Amino acid sequence: MTTGKRKLRLGVNIDHVATLRNARGGRHPDPLRAAAIAAAAGADGITAHLREDRRHIRDEDIARLARDIALPLNLEMAAMPEMLAVALAHKPHAACLVPEKRSEVTTEGGLDVVGGRDHLAPAIRRLAEGGIRVSLFVDPDAPQLDMARRLGAPVVELHTGAYCEAAGAARVRELQRLVAAAAHAEAIGLECHAGHGLGYDTVAPVAAIAAIVELNIGHFLIGEAIFLGLDAAVKRMRALMDEARA
Ligand code: PXP
Repeated sequence: MTTGKRKLRLGVNIDHVATLRNARGGRHPDPLRAAAIAAAAGADGITAHLREDRRHIRDEDIARLARDIALPLNLEMAAMPEMLAVALAHKPHAACLVPEKRSEVTTEGGLDVVGGRDHLAPAIRRLAEGGIRVSLFVDPDAPQLDMARRLGAPVVELHTGAYCEAAGAARVRELQRLVAAAAHAEAIGLECHAGHGLGYDTVAPVAAIAAIVELNIGHFLIGEAIFLGLDAAVKRMRALMDEARA
């Protein structure tokens, strides 16, 4: 079943504002100030990833974001007891479960929901019982989506990294995987989000997939903010998304 034109939400990931702050160890630039600017520029949500090594966002940032921002907070986290405790203490609007390896520079692939179901099921249940909307970050593969549905996660976020990194015919193939996975997610009753690696030159074909209702974008926007300012960078992304969706 195909969907009519739904609004496409933009979640702005502010992790790398914290990366820059942490480079000097002080308080500037403040991720909360970035969240406020992103909100004023048209973001629909704020996303932050609390990593085990706290390389960018820290516990205090999550506490402040959960308390002080008006937009819904999407907390990206590994399904581990330490992070579950943080989520349940601060009750973000949503929690996106991601795989996490200490050695990786960024989240390199989606969760293995099929292989990790015994470990993921209790985490999904505890978050849901805490009133937090659970999303699973997955590669665009039907068996992963089917297992997400079986485990009771209401949302999946499709990993767009392979699509963004591919070129030529390979990028077309990766886009087709995203189109097929988004349609499958919708058909089995999952809300479908997407993100990772998106920039101005890759966002439109993903934004045009009607079954996707939210994109989470971080690194490119914060990088572009150095040149354009965050307000202008977010507005431009918002405009590209809206054009593609129209
Ligand atoms: N979605 C998820 C689940 C992520 O882990 C990340 C990276 O933290 C993003 C979206 C945003 O990716 P990027 O920073 O490359 O835009």
